[in-house]
Amino acid sequence: KRKEIQRLGVENGLDARLFHQAFISFRKYIMESSSVSADLHIILNDICCGAGHVDDLFPFFLRHAKQIFPMLDCMDDLRKISDLRLPPNWYPDARAIQRKIIFHAGPTNSGKTYHAIQRFLSAKSGIYCGPLKLLAHEIFQKSNDANVPCDLVTGEERVFANEDARQAPHVACTIEMCSTNTPYEVAVIDEIQMIRDPARGWAWTRALLGLCAEEIHVCGEPAAIDLVTELMYTTGEEVEVRNYKRLTPLTVLDYPLESLDNLRPGDCIVCFSKNDIYSVSRQIEARGLECAVIYGSLPPGTKLEQAKKFNDPDDPCKILVATDAIGMGLNLCIRRIIFNSIVKPTVNEKGEKEIDSITTSQALQIAGRAGRFGSSFKQGEVTAMHRDDLVRLREILGEAVPPVRVRASVPGYTAVPWAALWYSDPKLFCLLSDIFVSLSQVDGMYFVCNIDDFKFIADMIQHIPLNLRSRYVFCTAPLNRKEPFVCTTLLKFARQFSRNEPLTFDWLCRHTKWPLAAPKNIKELIHLEAVHDVFDLYLWLSYRFLDMFPDAVLVRDIQKKLDDIIQIGVCNITKLIRASQSAAAPGTAEVVPEDFPLSKDARVVSGRQGAASTEALSIAVEAAGLRRARSSRPSRLGSRQEDLKSYGRGSLANRLLREGLLTQEMLRQLESEWQDQHRNGRYGIGSKRDDQHSSKETRKKRK
Ligand SMILES: Nc1ncnc2c1ncn2[C@@H]1O[C@H](COP(=O)(O)OP(=O)(O)OP(=O)(O)O)[C@@H](O)[C@H]1O
Ligand SMILES: [Mg+2]
Repeated sequence: KRKEIQRLGVENGLDARLFHQAFISFRKYIMESSSVSADLHIILNDICCGAGHVDDLFPFFLRHAKQIFPMLDCMDDLRKISDLRLPPNWYPDARAIQRKIIFHAGPTNSGKTYHAIQRFLSAKSGIYCGPLKLLAHEIFQKSNDANVPCDLVTGEERVFANEDARQAPHVACTIEMCSTNTPYEVAVIDEIQMIRDPARGWAWTRALLGLCAEEIHVCGEPAAIDLVTELMYTTGEEVEVRNYKRLTPLTVLDYPLESLDNLRPGDCIVCFSKNDIYSVSRQIEARGLECAVIYGSLPPGTKLEQAKKFNDPDDPCKILVATDAIGMGLNLCIRRIIFNSIVKPTVNEKGEKEIDSITTSQALQIAGRAGRFGSSFKQGEVTAMHRDDLVRLREILGEAVPPVRVRASVPGYTAVPWAALWYSDPKLFCLLSDIFVSLSQVDGMYFVCNIDDFKFIADMIQHIPLNLRSRYVFCTAPLNRKEPFVCTTLLKFARQFSRNEPLTFDWLCRHTKWPLAAPKNIKELIHLEAVHDVFDLYLWLSYRFLDMFPDAVLVRDIQKKLDDIIQIGVCNITKLIRASQSAAAPGTAEVVPEDFPLSKDARVVSGRQGAASTEALSIAVEAAGLRRARSSRPSRLGSRQEDLKSYGRGSLANRLLREGLLTQEMLRQLESEWQDQHRNGRYGIGSKRDDQHSSKETRKKRK
């Protein structure tokens, strides 16, 4: 436990985790071996007799640690392969040409993407890299409609414009899938400010540094101009900035919506939790209005259908309830954005859950969906549901977006398998990913991206015998970690794969109990979404292991059918909520956990980088200055948390208060009545506690 010994450990490559494991193993070795080595025996004897010091054990401890962790002998070599200081040099093809970088900067709805796409369409060849499947889809469609044959590439999908599956000169893809080896005349990198994203930012850094195109059109917030210029300084490329202004006015209203009775056609209510989506849509339908629903974990087909329904002037559905899944680049016919709340649950870089006010950048992105140019609304409006949120929202929207300053970009997990290769031990694979992160040397401009998902899968499949490449590919699969059914399926895929038994369509149908019926309640709807993710996972793996996942065509077919079934569920969402609530025990009105995986949007919609690529996966990143300026908005958050605490019943009480069904006075009264009854043991819980208490007493007495 002494600091000096820990320091000695670190000098020899034993960080706290390895030190602890080596210590347990060393102690076990000494305590449980029938005979320890002679030299160690003598030292132990000396220590026991007072002739030696306990520190004398350190060389033996280290010798033991090196036996169980052989990589400790190669720390210098590991350090070398973790040297990530010159990301621009990972892309020799891009460095061999002089690229022209054009930055289309401006607020939302200013025509940035439009202008970049005009150039893309007029070029002989081009690649569009977007953050969402839906955006890639939109460009794929636009291009083909304009008679410019364009393919679509996402993690799980390849659609060829040419019937004979010949590659078209144009391609629209999710950014993780872009090729840095194929030459293009024009490349478009959309939503460049995503480079700050701790989990996906690496894909933007990689595209920016590595795309092999004569012209690179970058679209995004002006706050990212400095960063792009700085990065391009290291590659010796100049950046031309083209500034745009919003094409239609956007007004922040000075009154909140206050009640859903005040909804008007073209309104979109933005929620940050699935529960709120369900609750709001139910209340809207209770008022006899139809609404469309879009949230991240819905399949793309359902999202598109819901968007189409809302956009269709002849459809009676004129209200949209959505999460910030609509926040990036999408063109919807929205007149007014109404923030149902301005706090959003997130997972920080350490994997901890946080609730924080939305950032200015997020608020602008979402608000920017109102009054899109070319839609039926010539101007946009934005407000909040509640007065106090509106005050805060005005402040957030008024703040300047802090400049995006990149601090890191590193080959993500690629160095890990190289290192593991040296030792060929699957158990080391997980440990090595940690060591890699701690050893990696980065330039001051970059830092290593979050590889938690990679590590999660590495741990999960650790015991399954797989060769290195397969293990690596499995570890990079797009997995929704929060959905146990998807996780266990990945495990089953890996197990069957390791036995060399192909994962057939029949197997998948048996496992998912396909064919599935329309959902009868919200729980079933969520399960169907998870099955959709499982099909995505299958398709993703089928592109990497064609022989072991041979039935992609059939799976794509049933996935489309499932998409339709989910759509039916979403259309009947109110009925599903009612069914869920009547089935739930009294007092358990929650239909899904509050922390539904918002982050999944990105994972599921984008897929991941083809793992077979040996090219360094770079990871981008955000600077310290970029982190949410939490300190700048503690007051509202603080009071919100206080509110929640003082309401003491979590979101149900909060919601009842908001809907005016409860007043604070009534809540206080209920609370004191409940406590009285509790004290008098009139409730089940109370009497149970009393039972426990009395049995404890009895036990005490007996003792
Ligand atoms: N000059 C133009 N002529 C015709 N339509 C245009 C023009 N400029 C923009 N549009 C249309 O206006 C809408 C908004 O433009 P665009 O999507 O390019 O905005 P953006 O600045 O990229 O917004 P965001 O930041 O939300 O991605 C799109 O439907 C686009 O087709
Ligand atoms: Mg855009």
